[in-house]
Amino acid sequence: MPKEKPELSDAMRKKMAGKTFVKNPILGTKFTIAISSAKGGVGKSTFATNIALALKKIECKVGLLDADIYGPSIPKMLGINEKPKSDGKSLSPIIKYDIQCMSIGFLADQQTPMIWRGPMVTSAIKTFTQKVLWKDLDFIIVDMPPGTGDTQLTFSQEIKMDGAIIVSTPQEVALLDVKRGIKMFDKLGVKILGLVDNMSYFIGDDGKKYKIFGEGGVKRTAEEFKKKFLGEIPINSDVGKQGDLGVPIVEKDPDHSISQIYLNLANFIKSEYFK
Ligand SMILES: Nc1ncnc2c1ncn2[C@@H]1O[C@H](COP(=O)(O)OP(=O)(O)O)[C@@H](O)[C@H]1O
Ligand SMILES: [Mg+2]
Repeated sequence: MPKEKPELSDAMRKKMAGKTFVKNPILGTKFTIAISSAKGGVGKSTFATNIALALKKIECKVGLLDADIYGPSIPKMLGINEKPKSDGKSLSPIIKYDIQCMSIGFLADQQTPMIWRGPMVTSAIKTFTQKVLWKDLDFIIVDMPPGTGDTQLTFSQEIKMDGAIIVSTPQEVALLDVKRGIKMFDKLGVKILGLVDNMSYFIGDDGKKYKIFGEGGVKRTAEEFKKKFLGEIPINSDVGKQGDLGVPIVEKDPDHSISQIYLNLANFIKSEYFK
């Protein structure tokens, strides 16, 4: 059995030791929701863009903050090529599909690799949460980078986070990291709204369900940690295709079976905060 790594590194513990943190809300925003996963490539950015669009469809005002400083994907997924306007002090979000968006990818050339160090990541996050003119938002959806690093730490310590959704695929290796992520949010006092099992199966041309990554792992993990299991999103080639085209599935085809899953989840999120 591989030994489970501690959920917070020694360096992080040191940074946190003896400090009290003032948690500021993101200005112009009622509720901040993080979309998190321990691993990359599980569909976090796809989830973040589609859930933002689904919340918009049910009459919420939504912002989308790409906090993946090293690997921003919101510009591509929403087909944004503009640069945000700045007056030297603040940045205006870019509005696409009625959603206020901000990403490091708007500011830097997307082909240039990000070779930033921790403090620069922290300062980029501070800019995005304090210097962006977010306006009248019900929700800001934060697309987190994978893992439990500087970005998560900055958010959890300095920003009022109202909830987190953890996205995973069902493989055992992904689940190990999910457990680490759950412990981190629990320790930092961020409410976990629940776990989503993404790319959990696909339906073949024969109409059968193929569970290629194993079965039930995310649900079992949710039960183990007494968190809500928010359901499964199957593998569907339209999802990937639409992400690549810059028009996510929920925007392109709200009646699609996958879009309906996102709309149900959006209703759940809304009901958690607006009773
Ligand atoms: N339910 C899904 N069905 C098919 N492809 C998906 C699904 N969810 C995500 N993908 C694809 O998987 C890849 C990784 O997704 P992405 O959202 O970039 O992951 P992450 O942000 O976790 O790294 C992308 O090519 C995306 O289009
Ligand atoms: Mg991503």
